[in-house]
Amino acid sequence: MHESQTSTRELYDRHVIPTYGRFDLRLARGRGCEVWDEDGKRYLDFGAGIAVTSIGHAHPRVVRALQEQVATLVHTSNLYYTRPQALLAERLVRLVGSGGKVFFCNSGAEANEALFKLARKFGNEGALPPPKHTVGECVQSDAKRIGIITMMGSFHGRTLAGISATGQEKVKKGFEPMVEGFRHVPFNDIAALQEAVDVPGTVAVLIEPVQGESGVHPAHAKFLRAARELCDERDLLLMFDEVQCGLGRTGEWCGWRSIAPDVMPDAVSWAKGIAGGFPLGAIWVNERAVTLKDGTVKKLCDLLGPGTHGTTFGGTPLVCAGANEVLSVIEEEGMLENARSVGAHALAVLRGLASPLIAEVRGLGLMIGIELVADFAQRTKLPEGKAPSLWLVEKLHDAGLLTIPSGTHAVRWLPALNVKREEIDEAAAILARVLGAL
Ligand SMILES: Cc1ncc(COP(=O)(O)O)c(C=O)c1O
Repeated sequence: MHESQTSTRELYDRHVIPTYGRFDLRLARGRGCEVWDEDGKRYLDFGAGIAVTSIGHAHPRVVRALQEQVATLVHTSNLYYTRPQALLAERLVRLVGSGGKVFFCNSGAEANEALFKLARKFGNEGALPPPKHTVGECVQSDAKRIGIITMMGSFHGRTLAGISATGQEKVKKGFEPMVEGFRHVPFNDIAALQEAVDVPGTVAVLIEPVQGESGVHPAHAKFLRAARELCDERDLLLMFDEVQCGLGRTGEWCGWRSIAPDVMPDAVSWAKGIAGGFPLGAIWVNERAVTLKDGTVKKLCDLLGPGTHGTTFGGTPLVCAGANEVLSVIEEEGMLENARSVGAHALAVLRGLASPLIAEVRGLGLMIGIELVADFAQRTKLPEGKAPSLWLVEKLHDAGLLTIPSGTHAVRWLPALNVKREEIDEAAAILARVLGAL
């Protein structure tokens, strides 16, 4: 076997396409909420791979489940039935708590892509709603029903449709023209949403119940409820992107239930924490009846029928065995409760730091955003041209704490759902020390 003597960093510089601005850390192994680099230095991991390693690194139950499945059956293709996928689909439908079906893919961007295709199918093949449901202009028009409304500040993945859906200009730059049909409205602005859904050809609304990449901004309960009402009145799909905030991160299986438990979306996307670090994405779609243009009636969750969508690796026995075990561990080891109580402790401790460099601490469960003050540069020796968030994250690395920057002024804490109070206290002490020295 070829074993290069060249350093990891140099191999990347020479051979890996530089789509990421990486930190100069070479991580080698992890356990629980800790990771170690190639030189053996320990870090508290409060990024969890950007909200991915949901039950920490190398959880013994997941290691065992994966080892057993790897020795049994890794892959067969989706031309056949396999038990782990069937059990995972059943479990996810149960966690949503409403009838429907699940489709498996490999990432958050792909899960959202499936939502976009569902919306296209619904718009192209669904009958226009009967006149009694007609409100505004949108459903009376013969405009193509392909319009998907998303929120400013949102993030929905890096595919071409994903960046078109994302409400941030920086991800679109250089890749124009965008996929047609996406429009963005200010997050939590009911009047703007109302105006947008009345545009002819609108078919769906896509919301992250807690925006992650823009620095942890939860939706308001009133906004989610208004979105549901507007979608009902106009026969639009309400879709939630729970790729980052779903499956326990906020202390609930369904992130939106931490905000508005009474709201039910028509479809949901997941990825990140679903399999604790193994690549898996999924969508859930509800089973409500849809009347098609030819007068036949289908369940919404059956609109993506045979031959309409797929992916080679989606839902292999291996990844589904891993995900089933991850979700069992979350359930059996009380990690939703832990995310709520330890998350509340983290918010209290962070707010208690009262640092003059922190403007605000926001969060739900273990999805926490620390917003730095706007005049951070004037108050510190921030190197010219450096974003405050990146600088702070690097200083925290030096002090043994991994966190995730969001934009120029926010830093996220997204530790595993089984993080301990003592680990929160240790991380807060590191943050206080680092901020104090700036
Ligand atoms: C809310 C949300 N949606 C979609 C994605 C894209 O997921 P992936 O990177 O797995 O494609 C992300 C990733 O950060 C996300 O936070």
